[in-house]
Amino acid sequence: MRLAFVLSFLTGAYSVSVLGPEKVISNTKGNVMVQCKYDESYTDHVKYWCKVNRLISCYKLVSTSEDTHSRITIRDNKTEGAFYITMTDLTKDDEGQYKCGIDIALGFDEQALVHVQVNEAQVEPIPASTAEKENRISKQKQEGSTYPTNHLKSPSMLVPLAVSFGVLLLLCCVAALIVCKIKRNIRPAVADKGEKVL
Ligand SMILES: *[C@@H]1O[C@H](CO)[C@@H](O)[C@H](O)[C@H]1NC(C)=O
Repeated sequence: MRLAFVLSFLTGAYSVSVLGPEKVISNTKGNVMVQCKYDESYTDHVKYWCKVNRLISCYKLVSTSEDTHSRITIRDNKTEGAFYITMTDLTKDDEGQYKCGIDIALGFDEQALVHVQVNEAQVEPIPASTAEKENRISKQKQEGSTYPTNHLKSPSMLVPLAVSFGVLLLLCCVAALIVCKIKRNIRPAVADKGEKVL
């Protein structure tokens, strides 16, 4: 085992201590499950799942020591010698290279490269679900509840808003005209008084 590890390290070949599928494709619901098998000598090591990133070499998403990601879970079956990663609600942005990893020390981690592909057939359910959401929104509007994030964008709200703004503008103009007229009426009166004083 140790020899295999040293050899794989020296040759730069793929790890022999952790094995993952070369490529996985999400199902039509946008979910994917990856199985990574490992050598029994690593049973008690921390396992993780990371995304290959150009800036950071591999960005850790979840690990068996801290499973924090909402869409991604990791589960280690020690009797089987395999850990499972489940990713849900995948979008095209999630597509790319990932790695099954085993925490060892200081960059000596064992890793297996896995390409995750998002199913093309998955594109169909997305418009259906947004249509459902829109349906729900219109239903809520009918029921009279407001939709704070959406109400300014909808034209049905912009029209009354524009009309009331126009009315407000008109009122301001009228008020300004009245003020001007009053001022003009006062000035001659003051001037008249002035003449009378003289
Ligand atoms: C782990 O794998 C074994 C063998 O396949 C299975 O019997 C067992 O139920 C699994 N345990 C868990 C927690 O999934």
